[in-house]
Amino acid sequence: MSTNDELKHFNFDQLSPEQINKAREIERICFDDPWSESLWQHYLPQTFALFASDQLLAYAQCSIVLNEAELLRIAVDPSHRRKGIGKQVMMALLNLLKDQGTERLMLEVRASNKAAIALYATSGLSLEGRRKGYYETEQAGQREDALLMGVNL
Ligand SMILES: CC(C)(COP(=O)(O)OP(=O)(O)OC[C@H]1O[C@@H](n2cnc3c(N)ncnc32)[C@H](O)[C@@H]1OP(=O)(O)O)[C@@H](O)C(=O)NCCC(=O)NCCS
Repeated sequence: MSTNDELKHFNFDQLSPEQINKAREIERICFDDPWSESLWQHYLPQTFALFASDQLLAYAQCSIVLNEAELLRIAVDPSHRRKGIGKQVMMALLNLLKDQGTERLMLEVRASNKAAIALYATSGLSLEGRRKGYYETEQAGQREDALLMGVNL
């Protein structure tokens, strides 16, 4: 199936308990600090995934409080990157949040995460601030800034 065909047949939905392990396989590849089982369970109602022909290609996790949402994590299976899937997830997520009455989406991102920053910018989020030295890095004693990005829905 070509990339375009794949994207036409994508399905974006809340993650079910049976699908957690599939999403956690992607998480393990993408993040050095995978969430605990209890954190996955806690955020399950606010975890969404993108499927193509029943294959889980990407997921996004939010914290939604009253009329504001924070994007906690988004990840695309590394073998399916740069095909527009991250953008599909962002657009589907923004539509879903808007339909639910959420008024704002915001997030923090490592200043070095150029792929994510570019994805958020192309999805309509703007740079709203910076937290100096917010994140630890792999180098002992070195810290990294967080960029704050957001969009009004
Ligand atoms: C960030 C991430 C979700 C992007 O997913 P993706 O499916 O590859 O993104 P898309 O193909 O939809 O790209 C959309 C746009 O984002 C930008 N972008 C994506 N990856 C990029 C990269 N590696 N370098 C520069 N820009 C990039 C581009 O503007 C791109 O549009 P283009 O391909 O037309 O130029 C993916 O790289 C990922 O899972 N990273 C690891 C997890 C992570 O860091 N998540 C964010 C913090 S929680």
